[in-house]
Amino acid sequence: MSDPLPTGEPTRALDESFGAAILAWADGARRDLPWRRTRDGWSVLVSELMLQQTQVARVVDRYPAFLQRFPDASTCAAAPAASVIDAWAGLGYNRRALYLHQAATAVVERHGGVLPGDIDALLALPGVGPYTARAVLAFAFEHDVAVVDVNVGRLLARWYGAPVAPREAQRAADALVPRGQGWRWNQAVLDLGATVCRARGPRCEACPARPWCGWRGAGPDPAVGSAGSGGRQSAFAGSDRQGRGRLIDALRRGPVTAEGVASVMGWPEDPDRARSVAGRVVADGLARRDGDGVLSLPT
Ligand code: ADE
Repeated sequence: MSDPLPTGEPTRALDESFGAAILAWADGARRDLPWRRTRDGWSVLVSELMLQQTQVARVVDRYPAFLQRFPDASTCAAAPAASVIDAWAGLGYNRRALYLHQAATAVVERHGGVLPGDIDALLALPGVGPYTARAVLAFAFEHDVAVVDVNVGRLLARWYGAPVAPREAQRAADALVPRGQGWRWNQAVLDLGATVCRARGPRCEACPARPWCGWRGAGPDPAVGSAGSGGRQSAFAGSDRQGRGRLIDALRRGPVTAEGVASVMGWPEDPDRARSVAGRVVADGLARRDGDGVLSLPT
């Protein structure tokens, strides 16, 4: 408990005035996003899984239709996995659809179809890690816990003027949540990271945290090499991920024969690669193969 927080030091103590300044800024700058209009646990879980690897604008487009089709965990759990994968179209990283379906089943079996407001129960759900569990607590239950993703890690490093180890980041972030303001605070920090304290091209002149910031855009960026540095995504074009995505897109339209796999994956000249990557899609549970080698979405 008495361990020091991150090794750097903000320019001024990150006290209540810091929290108040960020919250005041956020009240004028908050993005109106559909998942911010609900406190329903299932709806929040869906949004957070979508937002993990997909841009906000794309999630805004797809989220309402998904929830219309699966308005609660029970509806999702009762549906075949194939229909959840189908509704995930356009979001990418389709394994998340499978996790969501498995999480829905667990929520029905263990919690009567209602998302639990308890960190351990949330962490025990398939596909739910520390970030998502805390996001559900903060955004559905309004608990005073901090959500820490790479963006929040970046802000912490800049505020403290020093890299923050991933293990320190959660504790440092939790210590900053103004009491009783978990929902507002976490949305504010996400907005700040997305619109002002950006990874590249930070807008320090517009930042409400500037009086406290241990960086202020001058000198080397402390977020590089910190919990917030992320890493650039590897190229999508020509990747296995692209082939996987194309295969799932084809399966959404209907079954694919063994002979057709290489061409739907965009690798007509490389059937060995297609077979191997398709094998992993099957092993992941995103597709099944019948006795004739025909692939389809799982039931
Ligand atoms: N990214 C992850 N969660 C988010 C949220 N609640 N609002 C905006 N972006 C997010």
